[in-house]
Amino acid sequence: MGSFWWYITLKGPDGSEEALMSAADLAGSCGSEIQELPEGVRIRYYFLSSNDLGYWQMRLLEALGDGVDVEVEDSGKLENQQWYRVCEEGFTPVEAGRGFIITAPWHAQSCGSDRIPLIIKPGSAFGTGYHESTRIALGLLEDAREMLGPGFTLLDVGTGSGILAIGAIKLGAGTVYARDLDGTVLPELRENLELNHLEGAVQFEEGDLLKGFQHRVDLITANILKDPLISMLPHVHGVLSPRGLCVFSGLLLSEREEFLSALEANRLRPEKESSQGDWWGVLASNKA
Ligand SMILES: C[S@@+](CC[C@H](N)C(=O)[O-])C[C@H]1O[C@@H](n2cnc3c(N)ncnc32)[C@H](O)[C@@H]1O
Repeated sequence: MGSFWWYITLKGPDGSEEALMSAADLAGSCGSEIQELPEGVRIRYYFLSSNDLGYWQMRLLEALGDGVDVEVEDSGKLENQQWYRVCEEGFTPVEAGRGFIITAPWHAQSCGSDRIPLIIKPGSAFGTGYHESTRIALGLLEDAREMLGPGFTLLDVGTGSGILAIGAIKLGAGTVYARDLDGTVLPELRENLELNHLEGAVQFEEGDLLKGFQHRVDLITANILKDPLISMLPHVHGVLSPRGLCVFSGLLLSEREEFLSALEANRLRPEKESSQGDWWGVLASNKA
């Protein structure tokens, strides 16, 4: 078979294990091996070949940020079929919110849970469920569903893999729109919809935040970053129905005060907050 995997090996100082391991999830690595050295640690990350090596290097450096002083030891291509198994065995199912379980397709039959499965194929689009911000958004989506009841309409801004849109449909959403600035997420969104037997259930458009969006919806979900979220707030009332709610995620706990002030300035009322690790999200209503 023609499949192969990329690897990138880094060396970090003593005490950097946790940061190096957490970068694996953030960067979308499908597996990693860590080794303690007499001085420091060595970690090798494995990546799918769906993107080139330069792409993964960039994702990894972004995920590491400035906090860890690392040295790149080597990187390259691995054509050993055994790694296929290792990559697949990574991405073990992960629970989110009160009732979801996110699973890669190859674990879907065996994950044996009475939670609602969200079958997501790990690819290059963000939204495998391994990031705290996605799981926060899924939990707040459940709260929104309780407040709205079934049949609510949704706009998922920055849909990526489509995980939030898929979660919403499984909770009973009616019409679902999804947008992303990056049109290349569409094949992955489609594949994930098929994996969940939801072909055609989402109307996708390439677009920047709410610009040019022509419909009214009961719920907006947006797991992006603080600056784009804040720039979107003044336009939310033009899109939300009178009973409308918004799930905002992708924010750091340290950004909470600033974001709550921005909500207030835009006549949006926080209804529920949620955090995991350093990440924070909020469910807001337009009832301010
Ligand atoms: C953190 S990912 C979230 C993916 C998925 N919704 C989740 O919750 O896991 C952010 C997504 O927003 C998209 N994005 C970033 N800026 C955007 C913008 N200005 N307008 C629309 N989408 C944007 C990115 O391309 C990416 O797919």
